[in-house]
Amino acid sequence: MQEEMKMKIAIGNDHAAVEMKNEIKAYVESLGHEVINYGTDSNESCDYPVYGEKVGKAVAAGEADCGILICGTGVGISIAANKVKGVRAAVCSDTTTAHLVKEHNNANIIAFGARIVGLETAKDIVKTYLEAEFLGGRHERRVAMIHDIEQR
Ligand code: RB5
Repeated sequence: MQEEMKMKIAIGNDHAAVEMKNEIKAYVESLGHEVINYGTDSNESCDYPVYGEKVGKAVAAGEADCGILICGTGVGISIAANKVKGVRAAVCSDTTTAHLVKEHNNANIIAFGARIVGLETAKDIVKTYLEAEFLGGRHERRVAMIHDIEQR
């Protein structure tokens, strides 16, 4: 087992996921990581692309090692984050996907839906993702091909 690495993790959400964000933030901190909260912290209806972009930019700029995004489904906020160059945001609703998106896709953001997964599953997804490692090799080439698309 590799030595535990303390990471800086950006977290963002819309109004559908404030409570889950707070629980996940506390959980990630309990694992020893630092969490940068990009909001929202309000239950007022808001626009998920705002938070997807904030977290996407923080991760792409290296201000955070990786990111966690939560909206109703995890989909809208991940689509928004994926518009930021260098972001590979992946929606996960199960732990198998959570480790594979790191191992194969080197996802630098995971997303999930507060209306889709329960809190315990969400915690398992986060822990699984944070502990997984990129496998490189043939996956490196494919990830590079994704980034080539951004240059065209
Ligand atoms: C907000 O109602 C909802 O559309 C949003 O949280 C998300 O599920 C979008 O993908």
